[in-house]
Amino acid sequence: MCGIVGYIGNRSALPIVVEALKRLEYRGYDSSGVALIHEGELAIYKKEGKIIELERSLPEPSKCDSNIAISHTRWATHGEPNELNAHPHADCSGSLAIVHNGIIENYKLLRKQLQDLGHKFISETDSEVLAHLIEQFMSSGFSMEDAVRESMKVVEGTYALVVISKAEPDKLVAVRKGSPLIIGIGDNEYFITSDVSAIIIHTKRVIYLQDSELCVVHRAGFEISTLDKATVKPKISVVDWDISAIEKGDYKHFMLKEIFEQPITIENGFRGRINESMGTARLGGLNLSGFELKKVKQIHLIACGTSFHAALIGKYMIEEMARIPVHAEYASEYRYRNPIILEDTLVFVISQSGETADTLAAMREAQAKGAKVLGITNVVGSTVARESDGGTYIHAGSEIGVASTKAFTSQVTILALLAIYLGRMNHLSAIKGSKYIKALAEIPGKVQQILAHSDSIRKIAESIKDSSNALYLGRGLNYPVALEGALKLKEISYIHAEGYPAAEMKHGPIALIDENMPVIAIAIQDPLYDKIYSNLQEVRARKARLICIASEGDVELAKISENVIYIPDTIPCLQPLLTVIPLQLLAYHVADLRGVDVDQPRNLAKSVTVE
Ligand code: G6P
Repeated sequence: MCGIVGYIGNRSALPIVVEALKRLEYRGYDSSGVALIHEGELAIYKKEGKIIELERSLPEPSKCDSNIAISHTRWATHGEPNELNAHPHADCSGSLAIVHNGIIENYKLLRKQLQDLGHKFISETDSEVLAHLIEQFMSSGFSMEDAVRESMKVVEGTYALVVISKAEPDKLVAVRKGSPLIIGIGDNEYFITSDVSAIIIHTKRVIYLQDSELCVVHRAGFEISTLDKATVKPKISVVDWDISAIEKGDYKHFMLKEIFEQPITIENGFRGRINESMGTARLGGLNLSGFELKKVKQIHLIACGTSFHAALIGKYMIEEMARIPVHAEYASEYRYRNPIILEDTLVFVISQSGETADTLAAMREAQAKGAKVLGITNVVGSTVARESDGGTYIHAGSEIGVASTKAFTSQVTILALLAIYLGRMNHLSAIKGSKYIKALAEIPGKVQQILAHSDSIRKIAESIKDSSNALYLGRGLNYPVALEGALKLKEISYIHAEGYPAAEMKHGPIALIDENMPVIAIAIQDPLYDKIYSNLQEVRARKARLICIASEGDVELAKISENVIYIPDTIPCLQPLLTVIPLQLLAYHVADLRGVDVDQPRNLAKSVTVE
């Protein structure tokens, strides 16, 4: 977790890194800090809380003027989120400082060894060992970059690390393994960042550093090499989107903006990838011939958080349309479970960020077992994009709100395309395929219709905003949507919420139901409608406050519900793309009415790059 920004150039570094850091706040916001070299001395400023707190505490510009700086926004792993544990961390002499994203697994051993050599530690973090380790190597005669190289050879774990030292005040050293790090090339200035969104207003020319590559950035240029000093030829990429994509515009929160972007982002997911007359879809980057795909007899969909809920929906879709058995599993379980991967198993990892630590570990485990692993990701150049054997981008654009919304519907869109594509190779007729494609093409317009109900959903939110618990029910494809609705509510409003398959309610959750419990049920008129209607009668009999997501014109549900949100019809397989929208809006409005920081909920982070 955490976000890093470094700058070296001719301009005043502090305002640049602080502004850039704010764009990385989605990665963590427990504390932040900056280190720079002012009048030959290393100066470090840190503060607990959000970056605004750091900004308020900074001395006046003339006292901290510098054109070289590193900065960090933290999501705490080792050690409380306080000022002492905030980055940058300095060595004993206060002449070098580091910022780190990742986890140093052998830090206890290293800390003990360094303490035995006389190093004094002041924080509880794993990261601080890096500063002392580099200091130790520099004190035995190594240059700054060689000291970093030697240190990385003894460190176990993951890191994106940037080092500044007053001993070599005209350079920054950056190195990565397992956590992202990007070099931005400006006009006589250079940037180092965890994510291009932080520096896009300054430059679109970037280099995605690869694992175990080290970059020395001077005022006049940069060199990339391996830990063994082999020179690496830089591959410069040009970012193809601009700042407007990551600004809130007139929306109160990024989450609301991203919910409202879904008609466009869903369309971006399928544009150019569907063929209505052939009733099929095409996904370019799978790197598998039709012949190879036809041999697939089993699919694994592996992901975390909201992406896992998309995977569950993908399972229903692929099994229904392509009749291929699909196993969906949390990456954190899969990676340690010794999963059975047969010769004809195809593995997909699904990750908005492409950087989630458990998902990466699961991908590598599946690859180690000989599987072909394809990625479904949003972030171009992310680790999933680079290390998978192929895959596809969801094209949702930058997602800043910590609670994922548009990435979810884009992932489901891609899984629908995959299901149709595989279906057409197996049992699906052209006529049926065309019906699915046509229905998919109509989804953006229908999402737009649902978004128009935002104000009335806010009124419903008003009525449940003081609840302590909520139960979400759904069946079939809408069971994962119930899970997602509950996750949205709990992560941003801090109301405890559970998603359940409606029929399972009688095996436990029904005991919780009383007149104070809001039950949010997805009860669309599909083949399971009668079943869920009976479940909801049971809920009603226990006096729960029933809120239903229902098909337009369903008067029966209105009779037993406190509130009904009507949505347009689509084919059952695509319903999740519609049913999830009111649940996203409901969670958003509840959180906003409770006065919670919607885009940066407590204890969470956008991408969890630690185990
Ligand atoms: C975090 C985020 C979630 C996200 C999950 C998986 O928990 O807060 O919104 O769904 O990570 O992230 P990924 O980037 O792998 O989809």
